[in-house]
Amino acid sequence: MSVKTLLPANKGMLGSAVSLSTRRAKSWFAGVQMGPPDAILGVTEAFKRDTNPKKINLGVGAYRDDDGKPWVLPSVRKAEERILNKKLDKEYATIIGIPDFYNKAIELALGKDSQRLKEKHNATTQAISGTGALRVGAAFLSKFWEGNREVYVPTPTWGNHTPIFEHSGLTVKKYRYYDSKTCGLDFKGCLEDISKIPENSIVLLHACAHNPTGVDPTKEQWRELSQVIKKKNLYPYFDMAYQGFASGDVDHDAQAIRIFEADGHQYCLSQSFAKNMGLYGERAGVYSVICASKEEADRVISQIKILIRALYSNPPVHGARIVAEILNDKDLHSIWLKDVKCMAERIINVRAQLKQNLIDLGSSRSWDHITNQIGMFCYTGMTADHVARLSKEFSIYLTKDGRISMAGVTSKNVGYLAQAMHEVTK
Ligand SMILES: Cc1ncc(COP(=O)(O)O)c(C=O)c1O
Repeated sequence: MSVKTLLPANKGMLGSAVSLSTRRAKSWFAGVQMGPPDAILGVTEAFKRDTNPKKINLGVGAYRDDDGKPWVLPSVRKAEERILNKKLDKEYATIIGIPDFYNKAIELALGKDSQRLKEKHNATTQAISGTGALRVGAAFLSKFWEGNREVYVPTPTWGNHTPIFEHSGLTVKKYRYYDSKTCGLDFKGCLEDISKIPENSIVLLHACAHNPTGVDPTKEQWRELSQVIKKKNLYPYFDMAYQGFASGDVDHDAQAIRIFEADGHQYCLSQSFAKNMGLYGERAGVYSVICASKEEADRVISQIKILIRALYSNPPVHGARIVAEILNDKDLHSIWLKDVKCMAERIINVRAQLKQNLIDLGSSRSWDHITNQIGMFCYTGMTADHVARLSKEFSIYLTKDGRISMAGVTSKNVGYLAQAMHEVTK
């Protein structure tokens, strides 16, 4: 390797091999600048430092029960007991993971009756939760996508989408999605922008419970979107991190995918079991490419295997075993469906309570969007100034964009939260 290739790209300070070796003696990474802290972790840090007993953390997107505690689903506890009793070994999984897991996972998304699954048009792999599934998808598209190398994401979108695609060498562009005036969907703007995307581009869609806004298209709007995307010859990439968590019904939350499926799209899909099974730290996810034929799917999965082998070799087994145990067993499956419903209903109830409290306090603002939005998050419409006052004066912590993780709201703290929101938005 030449000396030149060893020089940091961003600094002209190392002009010669002499200065490089001098510098090398001190440190290889003296030129690395401090990166900004993660927006959500920053919120948690500030929350931890606060000693006010009334403090609330509304930053982190992980489910909490009505006592504000993390919840291990009863179906997951039972599945774990069964797995322990089997005394399984800890050998490597295959590169694409555990078939009992990923085959059932894709069936959960597309539905039991999916003709394409029956005909094996899917190239499906286990991945390291939703993030890892997106990362594998981005790596695959980066290497094999022959169209326009642009991924269009909604404004706003989950903060990790842009870096995931950019790190993989794809260009990220935006389409309109959220209307800050109504705190709802800017469907007209969304359709307009999507219909102007250059043909053969990739369009990222949140399958349900859009993060961070909690705003989803209706069934009718999904139908329209499907038609426009088809007409423009765009490639849909679904990110489904909340199946079941949004409405409490796993089939309802998969409606967008089922509509696109029925319309005959070829598309790809990332799934996460972090939220709907509460398996955050287990990293159970799935990536699928729905291909034109079984023969194409076989070629695609062979290449995905090559990519994964060099990324992390093979995925972790424990979380995938839990999901497989639940999805392959009738009794456990029905317990899980109740668990999902229980989480979704608690969130839906606490949304109603927050809105009612604000009305009772005499807020002159409309808070209808709190109950119109769905899933883990509520995009409140509060400004960065409101958020700053909430943390300073009330010890309530959330991201600057005014996004509340509804999971952090309970029947015990909802009154205090409403009071604080009313105070800062008066
Ligand atoms: C839209 C979206 N996609 C993907 C993910 C990935 O989550 P995980 O990697 O924990 O499965 C999240 C998590 O917050 C999300 O909100």
